[in-house]
Amino acid sequence: MSKNVLILPGDGIGPEIVTEAKRVLDLVNEQCSLGLEFTTALIGGSAIDAEGVPLPASTLDAAKAADAILLGAVGGPQWDTNPDFQIRPEKGLLGIRSNLGLFGNLRPAILYPQLAHASSLKPEIVSGLDILIVRELTGGIYFGQPRGIRVKEGGIREGYNTYVYDENEIRRIGRVAFEAARQRGKKLCSVDKANVLEVTVLWREIMEELSAEYSDVELSHMYVDNAAMQLVRAPKQFDVIVTGNMFGDILSDAAAMLTGSIGMLPSASLDVNGKGMYEPCHGSAPDIAGQGKANPLATILSAAMMLRYSLDAGEVADKIEAAVSQVLDQNLRTADIMSEGMVLVSTSQMGDAVVAALKG
Ligand code: NAD
Ligand code: IPM
Ligand code: MN
Repeated sequence: MSKNVLILPGDGIGPEIVTEAKRVLDLVNEQCSLGLEFTTALIGGSAIDAEGVPLPASTLDAAKAADAILLGAVGGPQWDTNPDFQIRPEKGLLGIRSNLGLFGNLRPAILYPQLAHASSLKPEIVSGLDILIVRELTGGIYFGQPRGIRVKEGGIREGYNTYVYDENEIRRIGRVAFEAARQRGKKLCSVDKANVLEVTVLWREIMEELSAEYSDVELSHMYVDNAAMQLVRAPKQFDVIVTGNMFGDILSDAAAMLTGSIGMLPSASLDVNGKGMYEPCHGSAPDIAGQGKANPLATILSAAMMLRYSLDAGEVADKIEAAVSQVLDQNLRTADIMSEGMVLVSTSQMGDAVVAALKG
């Protein structure tokens, strides 16, 4: 039976990195007779330019109909000054996450041993690093109402957003994290700001409540400011981290650097049934777009996660991850993970190397 994969290249480096991931997918599709069929659609700034909106109805329909989605990245300075805040590339991404109910965002930060020297931290701090950030993706301050910019008394403008989670939203992301921890190192750290924000007092309470059902998982709590510090001080103390939308956004970028580069961090965003969208954690990198400098590995690793979680092809995902490791063994590096004695390669050369490794 065939499976439909929707490809959303997006903006900036999005099309460049997705091209390389698609080459990898095309190859394994043929090698392993996966029966994948691909369609492509517009999202973000490229959709604004072509159709006037960041998430055209046709793209949303295609996303709903697909078995899985692979996204590059959206955004860029040319759309940052659009006076209508609804017509921004990022709204397309938030809209697809929200409309598809992709609340469970898994961001694994794994250090390939070959990259221990590419990290900005000392090799001994990061070697063996394998942590999973579970980020709530469709709620919290990103989506809370009311929100906006208003004029208050005296003609003073004020901007406001609402940080809100109900207990069901907290419970369902909590379950994703406890289940993940159960399959791994059995340690879960819930990150909040319960010393200041009521919404996270409730968050902490629900995590405690859930822990009664997961007695095999050791639950701890940490304030987000300390968590940011601990991630760069001693990241290996963590196994699974669960947190809300905004804290998860920030902490995952910090965790990315532990792996050598944000160009190495893949992600999966899953709904209640495990259907998902897969994307690198990084953005559209306008500073290097169109120059063949972007690291495609986060997107290639996202494609591997897609095969594992949504397309029932875990062993093919293993093969892709092994191919990435092999390429790093060959000392090939894009600029973001370059270090002394290594061979500098372009985006497409990195893709070539992964494809060659898969061909064996
Ligand atoms: P960014 O992640 O795009 O870039 C931050 C830095 O990391 C830049 O120096 C960039 O060159 C580098 N970088 C990122 N990905 C890389 C890769 N694969 N290989 C090598 N280097 C890489 O973050 P930003 O600059 O804050 O945002 C740029 C745009 O991307 C904004 O419009 C933002 O809204 C958008 N964005 C989109 C997503 C997404 O689509 N998921 C995520 C984050 C940011
Ligand atoms: C991410 C990005 C997005 C987010 C933006 C582009 C909306 O930073 O996927 O990490 O904040 O979720
Ligand atoms: Mn982010």
